[in-house]
Amino acid sequence: MERIPLLLLHGFPLDGTIWTPQVEGLADRATVIAPDLPGFGTAPAVQAGPLTMEALADAAVAELDARGIHRAVVGGLSMGGYVAMACWARHPERVRGLLLCNTRANADKPEGKAAREETARTALEKGVALIARAMVPKLLAPATHRRRPELGRWLEAQIARQPAATVAAAARGMALRPDRLADLPGITAPTLIITGDRDELMPLPTSLAMQERIPDSSLAVIPGAAHLPNVERPDLFNAIVHAFLTDLDHA
Ligand code: MLT
Repeated sequence: MERIPLLLLHGFPLDGTIWTPQVEGLADRATVIAPDLPGFGTAPAVQAGPLTMEALADAAVAELDARGIHRAVVGGLSMGGYVAMACWARHPERVRGLLLCNTRANADKPEGKAAREETARTALEKGVALIARAMVPKLLAPATHRRRPELGRWLEAQIARQPAATVAAAARGMALRPDRLADLPGITAPTLIITGDRDELMPLPTSLAMQERIPDSSLAVIPGAAHLPNVERPDLFNAIVHAFLTDLDHA
């Protein structure tokens, strides 16, 4: 069975280590590439100016180039999903399939853009640790927090180590992202949409709006998971992705 290249793009403000359960759990089916996007994790530093989803998409495709991979299944979670959609818009010939997790195609409303600027300023003026503390409760379902408190601590540490300039730049970049709802019917790549039934950051209607518009798409809702189903319910998440990759291989 061919191992399919699978490029996985992390959310905000995390890094590629969020995909550890997939690097390990999908190794028999996929060559998983889970880079730190520019400025995050171990990637070189960026300035605090906007880091657009288009720039991140170009950087993600450069990761494929660096490995000599022409086409991959491109997956992203939340901000990573915005980047995956930008990959499709800019480099469709590189996208064998799309995996859109806990994300949305619509742009921010004016109040959402203002909140992004507030996040950017908080990161720069007060530090990322504050953002980490505020975000972590929303990332996991309450039951996951109770059952696996170490997961919350791991996420908090992961966020707190991201550079303030990167967090500001990505927040400002997300505020600039275009509304892609009207582009979705033009997506010809097979697409799997995954979300958690407890995700309050990206409630189910954002996934339904994508599934209704992308012609060759399916939606999997993971019970008992919130914004990070890939770490909350990794076995189920991986089984769903595994089946998608196998179907793609047989198509
Ligand atoms: C993420 O997890 O990447 C963020 O929730 C995305 C966003 O703030 O829109």
